[in-house]
Amino acid sequence: MEVIVLPGPDDVARVAGDVVAEVVRRRPDAVLGVATGSSPVGVYAELARRVTAGDLDLSGVTAFALDEYVGLPDGHPESYAAVVARDVTGPLRLDPARVHVPDGRAADLEAAAEAYERAIAGAGGIDVQLLGIGANGHVGFNEPTSSFGSRTRIKTLTARTRADNARFFASPEEVPLHCLTQGLGTILEARRLLLVAQGEAKADAVAAAVEGPLTSMCPGSALQLHPRATVVVDEAAAAGLTLLGHYREVYAAKPAWQRP
Ligand code: GLP
Repeated sequence: MEVIVLPGPDDVARVAGDVVAEVVRRRPDAVLGVATGSSPVGVYAELARRVTAGDLDLSGVTAFALDEYVGLPDGHPESYAAVVARDVTGPLRLDPARVHVPDGRAADLEAAAEAYERAIAGAGGIDVQLLGIGANGHVGFNEPTSSFGSRTRIKTLTARTRADNARFFASPEEVPLHCLTQGLGTILEARRLLLVAQGEAKADAVAAAVEGPLTSMCPGSALQLHPRATVVVDEAAAAGLTLLGHYREVYAAKPAWQRP
């Protein structure tokens, strides 16, 4: 995979923003996969800045979220439907009718998961999938031991992920136990993967995903199977990488025609 190590979070947001902008420049009706969590927030802010400045038009884009909590009441501000509407659809001026989030309130969750897979396929698949990574290596909500062949389905969150995400809720008990998430097999079908990570808390997960063995214990290592995966990290998140110098050389020598 391509590993781009940059000085700080603003650089990560700018370079990841360049990748998304280039995909949409080539295909104005591109299909974006959007992640929630704090990792991509800067990328969305960067894209919103370009949209506001008139440099980028995302109005023809279709978007699919990676995942959603199960069982939150309708309109809960931390449901991913609400987060995506607030952080992505509004600021990026996406067409709300083209923004999709798994239905975590469905009476039949298995049917909702299958419908989500059909919707992605019906849109022609995802052109570029933005990803964060959890401290335990999870992508989407594919927790350790998730199958590399998994599709959108119900998952149980680990205690660690619930503790990590408790900061968004009034109390740790309020964090749902279950979710619907695109599977690793679903994610691997996106035509391009773009994982962003910032900060030292992600250094171990980034090193395991990029340089560790291919193992379901680190779901992020599934990216090694993808022919076009780009990992954009700041110095702190890159701290555990063995081939740091090599990644820097590759990026510095990247031919102009290959950017972004
Ligand atoms: C969250 C999301 C993931 C995200 C990851 C990291 O719970 N379901 O899509 O990438 O965990 O979160 P953060 O970016 O807040 O560190």
